[in-house]
Amino acid sequence: MDDALQEKAISLWQQGSLVAFPTETVYGLGADARNSEAVARIYEVKSRPRFNPLIVHVASIEAAERYVEWTDTAQRLSHFWPGPLTLVLKKCEGISDLVSAGGDTIGIRIPNHPVALKLLAAFDGPICAPSANRSGRISPTTAAHVESELGDRIPLIIDGGPCQVGLESSVVDATGDVPILLRPGIITREQLGASGAGGAHAILQSPGQLESHYAPETALRLNAKDVHAGEGLLAFGPTTLTSAESINLSLTGDLLEAATHLFSALRALDTKGLTSIAVTPIPNEGIGEAINDRLTRAAHR
Ligand code: TXA
Ligand code: MG
Repeated sequence: MDDALQEKAISLWQQGSLVAFPTETVYGLGADARNSEAVARIYEVKSRPRFNPLIVHVASIEAAERYVEWTDTAQRLSHFWPGPLTLVLKKCEGISDLVSAGGDTIGIRIPNHPVALKLLAAFDGPICAPSANRSGRISPTTAAHVESELGDRIPLIIDGGPCQVGLESSVVDATGDVPILLRPGIITREQLGASGAGGAHAILQSPGQLESHYAPETALRLNAKDVHAGEGLLAFGPTTLTSAESINLSLTGDLLEAATHLFSALRALDTKGLTSIAVTPIPNEGIGEAINDRLTRAAHR
């Protein structure tokens, strides 16, 4: 990103416009989180339900402490920052109520991407950014994905190459003494020492989790033991199954590698005109929890 491009992005944000930018997880669709009109535009452009709150991005812990009530749990977990972890905390003054979807908490994180950090430091304010896809669709992990989702609706997409993590951040309620996992990610429940998640608690606490999400046009058949005629194959680890259209998320059965390739693989298979996609079983431990979470939502119709 050269200086001219950076200045253009900052000036669009200052005017209340939207700019898509890279993070280590997925591309975000950013707006000034203090400007309600700008935040409203995010919901409009994404066709996102207004009850699904947005994540605020900042460049430093000092900046985060300006917008949320910091807790001991937040202090402990902030050693994962910059990184793919969002902390849900009680919000202070200054952030638009639209960001929290009317609630009294916001999700906040410091992304671990040089372009995002440079933009956030230069803007010197809170940028709320959901994933830069239309609501309900697969999160974008390249600038080209953003272009195909939202290219005709936003003035600027900053290309920072493919996202290194490729899966959205882990979301954790850090308001209490014990962190509660609301959305699994590559920082695992074990690493966070978190309880909860996956069940009714998560659904109540993270309203966006109610919907079908990350959905390709093509139907998914999970835990497949075979491949039907006309089906594509999304495999994990060594397998004897075959298909004319086949992608292996990790030949060696590495869950981190699989998480990183998941969304781009779904997008690639989705363009092949398949009747459906057979997905081989993925162990539900560690990072597998996040992969299975996204696959279950993608399969939901
Ligand atoms: O990696 C990421 O988190 C990416 C990048 C761009 O930072 N962002 C992202 O945002 O995935 P989005 O809007 O697609 O997903 C945000 C998730 C939703 O499930 C939402 O319900 C939850 O975080 N969330 C946001 N604020 C919350 C809050 N105050 N309480 C509970 N859940 C919240
Ligand atoms: Mg999203």
